[in-house]
Amino acid sequence: MEEPGQASSQQQDPKTKRILANHRRLKKILSHIAEGTEYGELPTQLAELGVVLADHFHDEEGDDGLFEVVDERAPQCHATIEKLRQEHRALTDELAELCETARSGSEDDHARTQERAMGFVTRLKDHEERETRLFLDSWCTDLGEMD
Ligand SMILES: [Fe+2]
Repeated sequence: MEEPGQASSQQQDPKTKRILANHRRLKKILSHIAEGTEYGELPTQLAELGVVLADHFHDEEGDDGLFEVVDERAPQCHATIEKLRQEHRALTDELAELCETARSGSEDDHARTQERAMGFVTRLKDHEERETRLFLDSWCTDLGEMD
């Protein structure tokens, strides 16, 4: 017998399954970093975050991704999409620099690096929330045009 939600996940196409699995992984890593890490653990967590985030941004920017869908539904949001796209570059660069700092830092530097990592998580979550809002607003705009 199928568990609730199981049937729908079986009906999802491979791309959707991969995106959802990636989101779950992203959420798990962000929670782990936000809760605090031990010295020596942070570089591994940040490196894994870098891999997951690269996939995540690629999906958002790619064919049928969030940006393309919003751009089609709500062309007036084009400038906002470009700003979010630039934020992807900035977040990627910031994370790469943070990874290097965590990898090369001593145990004495850990608390400061951990604090920076938490700041990064907060900015990334804010970015994601704005994307979600934009997506939902564009959907409402699309539905509104059906009136
Ligand atoms: Fe994004």
